[in-house]
Amino acid sequence: MTPAIPATGVFREGLAREEAPPPCGLVIFGATGDLARRKLLPALWTLSRSGLLPARFAIVGVARGGLDDAAFAAEMKAAVAEHGRTPLDAAAWDAFATGLRYVPGEFGDPATFDRVKAVLAELDATRGTAGNRLFYFATPPSFAATLFERLDAAGLLDEVDGAFARVIVEKPFGRDLDSARALNAAALAVADERQIFRIDHYLGKETVQNILVFRFANAIFEPLWNHAYVDHVQITVGESIGVEGRGKFYEEAGTLRDIVQNHLLQLVALTAMEPPVAFDADAVRDEKIKVLRAIPVPNAREVTLTTVRGQYDAGATAGADVAGYRSEPGVAPDSATETYVALKLSIDNWRWAGTPFYVRAGKRLPKRVTEIAITFKDVPHAFFGRNGGAPAARAPGGGAGPAANVLALRIQPEEGISLRFGSKVPGSRLDVEPVKMDFLYGRSFGVEPPEAYERLLLDAFLGDSTLFIRRDEVEAAWGLVTAVHRGWADQATPAFPNYEAGTWGPAAADALLARDGRAWRRP
Ligand code: BG6
Repeated sequence: MTPAIPATGVFREGLAREEAPPPCGLVIFGATGDLARRKLLPALWTLSRSGLLPARFAIVGVARGGLDDAAFAAEMKAAVAEHGRTPLDAAAWDAFATGLRYVPGEFGDPATFDRVKAVLAELDATRGTAGNRLFYFATPPSFAATLFERLDAAGLLDEVDGAFARVIVEKPFGRDLDSARALNAAALAVADERQIFRIDHYLGKETVQNILVFRFANAIFEPLWNHAYVDHVQITVGESIGVEGRGKFYEEAGTLRDIVQNHLLQLVALTAMEPPVAFDADAVRDEKIKVLRAIPVPNAREVTLTTVRGQYDAGATAGADVAGYRSEPGVAPDSATETYVALKLSIDNWRWAGTPFYVRAGKRLPKRVTEIAITFKDVPHAFFGRNGGAPAARAPGGGAGPAANVLALRIQPEEGISLRFGSKVPGSRLDVEPVKMDFLYGRSFGVEPPEAYERLLLDAFLGDSTLFIRRDEVEAAWGLVTAVHRGWADQATPAFPNYEAGTWGPAAADALLARDGRAWRRP
């Protein structure tokens, strides 16, 4: 499926847009934390080297530690050297670093915000940032409400003389439905929805955006994209890594909050949504929310029947022995936190009635893989089975046998799309074997896709919230996840640990699909 005409469009030009981003002062709360060092500064550095940052730009880091501007710049330089995809260039870095400032302080202390305000005023004067502000909450969710309140009290959310004040809130947005609602209320008491950018970095991934392009820019798939032709959908967000020193965070989160509430449900929404009337923030999000609302909120009994949780034990990944979750630093020796979740979801609407979506996410699986696999129903009559090879065995209860057509959208790694279909085996008999047609981004376009955070930061500078989560989406997603947590609270915790590191999760997850006569893919 390599394109016949070499691609010359947006992909080749990277993230360049017709519109240049306006001047801006970016304030990062939690500027010395993991997210800022691993993702944000490296993304800003790449944008800067690609000429995509606003021409008049500065970064203000805010954190508790007592650094000064020079020490902060040195820390950020080290972070970019370690985690950046664009190599450091000494002269260019020195120019970039002239726009770095550091403000030490507690997030609850009004004096911190007075200092931020003074630094922003200085930057407007010296670097021409023009009163435009973008605040990034790279902090644990418990700080978010306070940050909104303090920013407002300091007058920093006021949009004066046509300048903008925007806030990017890192996930998780709350920790259950009530806290998400409370945080939305706190945010919307002081800012307009248009000013709030709730980030889910999966939406910044090229391959995730390509779900919509694939579906709605091609005429051949959409007519089949419904319950009449699709037997079931499987979505996997698998990671081979464990909790990577984030044991304390993970104990509070678990996979349901960390991955399912956001990344996985967003993939479900993009896969299942109706065509939007336009590719803009309202139209796209109007369609996604309809999908989330069409997934019934499960009661306790349904939670027992349609969900599986797991926790990894010691095992081996990539040939190396690894510890079990309970032995990770910061994790309780009798922890009941899940590191794996599988769910059977139904989408009760006209398009998807009767077509289950099986979704799973887990740490310490055999490989890192995120994919969406659409399994189509079998042909109505196994015609060739009688003439040639053995007829494809039909799955009991399921409408797709082992020879079914499968369309797999590989989000990462080996980004691409493959289609499995049956082909005649050469020879005198009419035997049918599955074969694959493959498209690989790398091969077709020959460029490395931009990092998700690069795209999303650029969109926030431009004020485009299409790839950010709206208030109603975040609450609908938490509604589902909170119902699952409630159901789990009523059940006995499974005998954790219940899967070995380096395997595809607990046996109960296989049983979940086996009951429907189906099996998980082994991507
Ligand atoms: C984050 C989670 O949101 O996504 C992490 O907090 C997870 O636990 C990460 O590892 C996965 O992101 P990616 O882009 O590597 O798939």
